[in-house]
Amino acid sequence: MNLYDAYDPFARVYNQHWGFFATKAYPILEHLVLEKLSPGCAVLDLCCGTGQLAAELSRRGYRTTGLDGSEGMIEIARKNAPDVDFVVQDARNIALTRKFAAALSTFDSLNHVMSLDELEQVFRSVFSVLDGGGYFVFDLNMEEGFRSRWCGSFELVEEDHVCVVRSSHDANEKTGRMDVTLFELDGSRWVRTDIPLIQRWYEEVEIKERLRKAGFEELQSFDGNEPIVEGSVHEGRMFFVGRKRDARQARSERHPDVLKELVTVPDSFFDPLPEEDLKSWEGE
Ligand SMILES: C[S@@+](CC[C@H](N)C(=O)[O-])C[C@H]1O[C@@H](n2cnc3c(N)ncnc32)[C@H](O)[C@@H]1O
Repeated sequence: MNLYDAYDPFARVYNQHWGFFATKAYPILEHLVLEKLSPGCAVLDLCCGTGQLAAELSRRGYRTTGLDGSEGMIEIARKNAPDVDFVVQDARNIALTRKFAAALSTFDSLNHVMSLDELEQVFRSVFSVLDGGGYFVFDLNMEEGFRSRWCGSFELVEEDHVCVVRSSHDANEKTGRMDVTLFELDGSRWVRTDIPLIQRWYEEVEIKERLRKAGFEELQSFDGNEPIVEGSVHEGRMFFVGRKRDARQARSERHPDVLKELVTVPDSFFDPLPEEDLKSWEGE
């Protein structure tokens, strides 16, 4: 599978004008997941972009890994968050051996995944790198967000670059398109780059269904139109939380105390099973 590298030519300008979002979302992430974690645990910033969230997580003491498909975004992320370990990988096919207490993905990154099957693939990929009991939290632009915000155009005019953004959406295809045209000053000449960024929207029920199929439990969704924490409004966006069940908890629920009284089992019987055994146990 190819890397998602569409942001490569956009990285410098994204960092300057859009990189703020993740830190704006931090209080929500803190409220939904981070405050449930142990201090200093390992956290994955999935589709980390230019690394502002990763920098904040690292400042707060989390052992942070940032993953993004765009080499250009990661190059800037490494400067923004020098203490963070960054990898260039695709979210649909994460190849990390370390495990995380939580994975976070912000600013509609996962709307760039263009089919439900691929979205489920991302969910499965994240599931595979979470510790038992680990959390996954992400936001997505919903249909309402595309209808209200993905239309019209605006421009940003700076000394050394001009960025024109034209947005549209297609309700039949459930897609939004942002055509970014950049003019960047290179010495004494202006260089033009055109960057099409495409997103897809999904229904809340189908997102939850795919999370469930990927193995997540304790699913929750939060409408950004309502303040999730005081003062936070994210029009047309939802936040989703899922949790990977802890193997020990799963087995103790499957073996209620009455069973323990009928049969004598060694204590090791209740130790966590390897992941593969757990899957076959759960009939996956
Ligand atoms: C809108 S930016 C958000 C960046 C960052 N999370 C933030 O809050 O500023 C979307 C990011 O998702 C990344 N991305 C999209 N699809 C991806 C995929 N399949 N695998 C890895 N990265 C992906 C892009 O490269 C880009 O950096």
